[in-house]
This record gives sequence, structure tokens and C-alpha cells, in this order.
Amino acid sequence: MNGQVIRTAAAAVLAVACSAAAAQSVEVMHWWTSGGEGAAVGVLKKDLEAKGVKWVDMAVSGGGGEAAMTALRARAVAGNPPTAAQLLGMAVIDWSGEGLLGDLNEQAAKEGWDKVVPPALQRFAKADGKWVAVPVNIHRPHWLWMNAKIFKDNGLTPPRTWDEFNATADKLKAKGILPLAIGGQPWQEATAWEGIVLGLGGPDFYRKAVIEADAASLKSATMVKVFDQMRKLRGYADKNFAGRDWNLATGMVLKGEAAMQLMGDWAKGEVLAAKMTPGKDILCAVAPGTQNSYLFNTDFFAMFKVGGDRRPAQLTMASSVMNPGFQETFNLAKGSIPARSDVPMDKFDECGKKSMTDLKAAATAKTMYGSLAHGHAQPAAIQRAYLDVITKHFNSEQSSKDAAESLAKAVAAAK
Ligand code: BGC
Repeated sequence: MNGQVIRTAAAAVLAVACSAAAAQSVEVMHWWTSGGEGAAVGVLKKDLEAKGVKWVDMAVSGGGGEAAMTALRARAVAGNPPTAAQLLGMAVIDWSGEGLLGDLNEQAAKEGWDKVVPPALQRFAKADGKWVAVPVNIHRPHWLWMNAKIFKDNGLTPPRTWDEFNATADKLKAKGILPLAIGGQPWQEATAWEGIVLGLGGPDFYRKAVIEADAASLKSATMVKVFDQMRKLRGYADKNFAGRDWNLATGMVLKGEAAMQLMGDWAKGEVLAAKMTPGKDILCAVAPGTQNSYLFNTDFFAMFKVGGDRRPAQLTMASSVMNPGFQETFNLAKGSIPARSDVPMDKFDECGKKSMTDLKAAATAKTMYGSLAHGHAQPAAIQRAYLDVITKHFNSEQSSKDAAESLAKAVAAAK
């Protein structure tokens, strides 16, 4: 053989080897980098590796996924998106609108996804009748996590209204105990804010103010009260809250450095990763006043259009995510509940069982809405307008009345 032939043969061997490797691997973008999140993502990685699919990790840290979205955009602009990306509901709609997501309908039909995924989730997972993403979980962002020992030692019970919450926090503060662990980042402030909107205003008010972005509700007296309660929260936090990551705030409650945290049930993943028991060491209750409603956010894996060589591994991943056994194991670690309605709940703790019972009740009562802070209520530009105002108010001395008026203006301008 001459040199040219050898080089051509070597190149051919390399090309075959590369495409075999590509066929066997998935590159997955996600923002699950905390202890609990890492444990959950490990379940997916292991599941795929057992099927011979290599996991190429594209983790971008930053709770709520803002940094991850910037990284994803850069990859897509360069024409090189990952195989799959963790996206919140509205983002799935955006990316599929850009024509970048693949069609999973064949797999969906084979495995009967239509029958087991609740319609509220299908609304995001399907575009023009085509499945483009698979839902991993259902998270509930409006929970209150409490250090059981602090509550017991001080004769306290979980507050059920915002007045009770303030009374509890005042008692703790008077005793020199830090009432609230806060992570000061816009998405975290918005997570607390939407729980207060729901708790003080009720589900109809949430629908008007957040889902319908109704100007009169945004500048109403109720909204002024919502901002008053936000101001109270800041008074219950320590001085170093600005910029703190959510999982560090959870850690403060686990260690007994603070009594409570308002956060979604991904915080339960941290409780479990610390080998503590939810409902026993760390109490869970829904955020005050939100007992009869349910805000939700779901993590979807959106499947990008990929070359034929990467497609089989991508479909294996979609199928794995939708598997009932996987949904059980993954959600037991993540703190969420399964995105399929047919997964048994007996292995879940009392917080998980409560989440499922409340979800079903709220779906029937029509008091189930998408979370604004976690991308299930408004498209990104309008969501940003809300978050900017919430954050500005929280981190300044702006009056509640000015904040409510500025919210109505900012949202109207973004619409
Ligand atoms: C995601 C969760 C994640 C949390 C904190 C939420 O938007 O849905 O999966 O654990 O952000 O990063």
C-alpha cells in the first residue's frame, strides 16, 4: 500500500470509530450542580450508561438556569447544540419556535406518552402536535422548609398564613435566632414573591396578575401588600443574603443557622443528600396561604435536531426519561414528583405524597398554574420585566406602592 492509501484507510477507520462513539453518546446540558441535584442527575447518567450510552456532561451552574440558557444560546448560534438540554416550559416553546428541536412522535406513539403525561405538561412538551421534549418531573416552587429542632425547642408550629409567618419570625428574631435563610438572586426573590402573590391574593389573583399580566391587578392594593410582605422577609434575613446560592441558604436551615427557607422542593434534594429526613428533621409545609393551590414547574429535556449518527442515543435517552421506574428513582432523589401520572407514590415521603395529592386536587379545582420564576407563566422577556422590578424593590428602599406601579408599567412595556 502506498502512503496515500494508508492515510485514506486510516481516515476511514477514524470516521467509523467517531460515528460509533457519537452514536453511543449524548451530550446533555443542565444546571443541576448542587449536592441533591447532582445525585438526581447521577441516576440518569447511570441509567444511560447501563444501556451503553456515554454521558457527556455540559453542566452550567447557577440556580434557576439563567447562566445555562446563555451558554446554550452560544452553542446554538455556533450551530452546535448539545443532544439534549434541560429547559423550563416556556423555553421549550421558544426553542421549538426557532425550528431547532427534533420530532419524537414515533417514540411517543410506541410508548404511549399521550396517555400518561398530564395535559398541563403536554402543552409545553409538544409543538404543532409533535413531541419535542420529555418531562422529567413536577416541582412545586412554593414550599416553606423548617428546622424541626428550632421549631420544637421554641414551641412553634408551621405558620399557615402570612400573619402567622410574621408572628413566628418575630418570636425567633426576639430570641436571637435567624428566622429566614434567603439567597439574594432575582429568581430566588421571584420564587418567594410568587408564593406571596398566591398566598395573600389567592389563585384568582395569581391568574390575573401573573398569567394574564393584568395591569389593574399589578398595581392593586393587594399587590402593594405583596411588596410589603417582601420587605418584611428582608428584615428576617441576615446581612449577607445578596448573591447567596439557594443551596447554601438551604444548608443554613439544615445546620440550624436559620429556622426557615421559602424555596421549591429541589431543597428536599439537599435534605436527602445531607442524610436528613424530610418531615422529621426538616419540616415541609406549603408557603403560607397557598394550601389550596398549586404552582408548578417542570424540567424538560428538549431534544435538538441532530445528525442521524446521534439520533439512536438521543432516542434511548428520551425513552429512559419516560420510563416509569426511572421517573420514580430520579424524583425520589430530586425532591420533585414524577411527570407521569401512573408512577406509584408509596416510596415517596410525606412531602412528596402531599405534593401529588395537592396537585390532583388543584388540577380538579382549576387552581393549578405555571410558576413565573421558573419559566412556566410568561415568555422570557415579560418574565424578565417582573423579575427586574421584584429585585429592584427587594434590594432598595423603594416603597411598595412605587414598586406595584412600576411593575404594571414594566410589564405593559414588555408585552
Ligand atoms: C429547576 C430545578 C432546579 C432549581 C434550582 C429550577 O428552575 O426546575 O430542577 O433544581 O431550578 O436550580
